[in-house]
Amino acid sequence: MMSDLNGKVAFVTGAASGIGLGMTRAFVNAGMRVMMADIEQQALAAAARGLRDAGAAVETVVCDVSDRAAVFAAAAATLEAFGKVHVVCNNAGVTSGGLVEECTEGDWHWVIGVNFLGVLHGCQAFLPHIRRQQEGGHIVNTSSMAGLLGGMPAWGPYNSTKFAVVGLTEVLRQEGRAGGFGASVLCPGGVNTSIFEAPRNRPERFGPQDSIVADSVSSEDLKKGLDPDIVGRLVLEAIQANRLYIFTDPRFRSMVERRHEKVLADFEWAAQSAALVDSGAPGSSRPS
Ligand SMILES: NC(=O)c1ccc[n+]([C@@H]2O[C@H](COP(=O)([O-])OP(=O)(O)OC[C@H]3O[C@@H](n4cnc5c(N)ncnc54)[C@H](O)[C@@H]3O)[C@@H](O)[C@H]2O)c1
Repeated sequence: MMSDLNGKVAFVTGAASGIGLGMTRAFVNAGMRVMMADIEQQALAAAARGLRDAGAAVETVVCDVSDRAAVFAAAAATLEAFGKVHVVCNNAGVTSGGLVEECTEGDWHWVIGVNFLGVLHGCQAFLPHIRRQQEGGHIVNTSSMAGLLGGMPAWGPYNSTKFAVVGLTEVLRQEGRAGGFGASVLCPGGVNTSIFEAPRNRPERFGPQDSIVADSVSSEDLKKGLDPDIVGRLVLEAIQANRLYIFTDPRFRSMVERRHEKVLADFEWAAQSAALVDSGAPGSSRPS
């Protein structure tokens, strides 16, 4: 467990803005050194300048997390700058709107590339170092409440990738038991950030953005969301407590309960279905 973080090294993606910047602030306040990574060079430099002026030990690396080689280069830069790495926050994320069949191949590949492969690249680039150091470590992967609650119309790529991040992190949590590292999945509710301006950072290779982010949640809703600095503090606390799920909005609990009730109801239905009952399948039983 990483209870004492003073002097430890963190790597944070999406660190130029929003939740990534909030985490960076919380880490430096706890005495950590931070490698800030982001695709947006100017915003990254400005954010780092502000922190350095206040005495923080931060470095920057421009990095598109959907580019595997760039993430491995960022890991090398982190080791070169600080000699070690302990906490890795795979946080950069984007969203693109449109019905499942309307989203272009580029839309899907962009969101999968950043939200899921970006997280995977970070794990693969940094975990060998964490294992080798034998000083403990912690991975924080940013998902969303959309990683536990499905069914958001026009949010197919986002919803799907956020579920994948939860799945990946649950695997890492088990692998970390023997590997000497912890893993958490951050599942925020509304946080006041620039996520709705995500297309600003869409690399050209994914083609133009046609569809707009729509429905379920509006940018007005997000403005009423939590301050990202609070999320940063919460993440720090959760790393120290080695929690698996990091929730920012306890009001979502009842929605998760309703989802699980639906899962259980369909188990009951399946157990009494003619196909399973007639064939004597294990676990099935005729309705009484
Ligand atoms: N804001 C919310 O309400 C909310 C809710 C749930 C989950 N999240 C998740 O939080 C994470 C952070 O988003 P945010 O809300 O702080 O938004 P944000 O737009 O303020 O910050 C995202 C950062 O990621 C960077 N980024 C985008 N594409 C990148 C790429 N390919 N490589 C590297 N960096 C890239 C952006 O430049 C930006 O600095 C995302 O994974 C998002 O899905 C946010």
